[in-house]
Amino acid sequence: MNILISGGAGYIGSILSEELVRRGYKVTILDTFFFGEESIKSIRDQVKIVKGDIRAVSADVFDGVDAVINMAAISNDPASELKHGLTESINHFGRSRTVELSKKKGVKKHILASSCSIYGFTDGISDETSKVNPLTVYAKANEALEKDAFALADRNFCVTSLRQATVYGLSPRMRFDLMVNTMVLQIFRDGKITLLGDGGEYRPFVHVKDTAMAFVNTLESDDDSVNGEIFNVGEVNMRLDELTHRVTDALKLKYRCDFGTMIDKRNYRVSFEKIKKIGWKPEYNIDEGAREVWRALKNRSTNPDDPRTITVKWYKNLIEQNEVKVDG
Ligand SMILES: NC(=O)c1ccc[n+]([C@@H]2O[C@H](COP(=O)([O-])OP(=O)(O)OC[C@H]3O[C@@H](n4cnc5c(N)ncnc54)[C@H](O)[C@@H]3O)[C@@H](O)[C@H]2O)c1
Repeated sequence: MNILISGGAGYIGSILSEELVRRGYKVTILDTFFFGEESIKSIRDQVKIVKGDIRAVSADVFDGVDAVINMAAISNDPASELKHGLTESINHFGRSRTVELSKKKGVKKHILASSCSIYGFTDGISDETSKVNPLTVYAKANEALEKDAFALADRNFCVTSLRQATVYGLSPRMRFDLMVNTMVLQIFRDGKITLLGDGGEYRPFVHVKDTAMAFVNTLESDDDSVNGEIFNVGEVNMRLDELTHRVTDALKLKYRCDFGTMIDKRNYRVSFEKIKKIGWKPEYNIDEGAREVWRALKNRSTNPDDPRTITVKWYKNLIEQNEVKVDG
């Protein structure tokens, strides 16, 4: 089976691409490589690489492709706030274009990398039938993309959306701007965690290898069980103040945390029951994720001083250098 992954060199995409190669799929990585090509060096000779922008790439790239995993995006809230027009052009129009071209070229299966941040602020636990409440330009683009994509789903074009929790763990394209990874780095550098707010908000979490496997499960499921469906992908919901204790305990270190006064409106808890029906369950937990990041920092196999590990700072830099533009 030929699989095309847009954003296949990213934090999640590089892990997923490697897993798909290991499973014998023929993989095409379509990526602008905003964060470089090192993340896919272990599989470079085993995949087809298309260096291009989803907003402009030729439709021919989709010829002969059986399934598309639609991941390329400006990948978090702060980076998406930098330039709203840019986020809309990539995360909504570019990604919807990827869906349209897939259908036009006869691709059978299309999987969206969406986000639980689409739930925004909720009192109870949200499941896939709950009303969404996207609060940011990033979350709104995900909602718009889902609408566009599901409108094109039919018997011959299977569309599924995976709403991922906040991801943690090690990846060749490392991100130290994701909550668990950030906390581990703060302890490593400063001996304590610093939160901007009071830590009272809930977030769902999932390990990067587990979320990658959710794409594999969807890919390998019968179309009947996934077509037109949304699945939340996560392992646990936790308040951020609880998370500070969990991460410190996992590292067996003395607890120290400073809290701030910033108010974050985003606060959501999510049900992960539905995806179990297609055989997915998490294999990792926050303790293991925190420890693997800690070990990598200790043995210097990951570099926290690499400016690319903080997505918003790197995009700010790319925008200033005119390396990424609103008009593609
Ligand atoms: N990491 C998380 O916690 C998380 C949680 C929920 C959803 N998601 C979603 O999952 C997807 C992957 O996230 P990630 O953490 O791997 O992000 P990432 O930033 O590491 O990867 C995104 C990749 O997309 C590429 N890209 C960006 N714009 C592009 C364009 N216009 N054309 C082609 N390639 C482009 C980048 O070069 C990068 O390799 C994103 O859609 C993100 O919104 C991530």
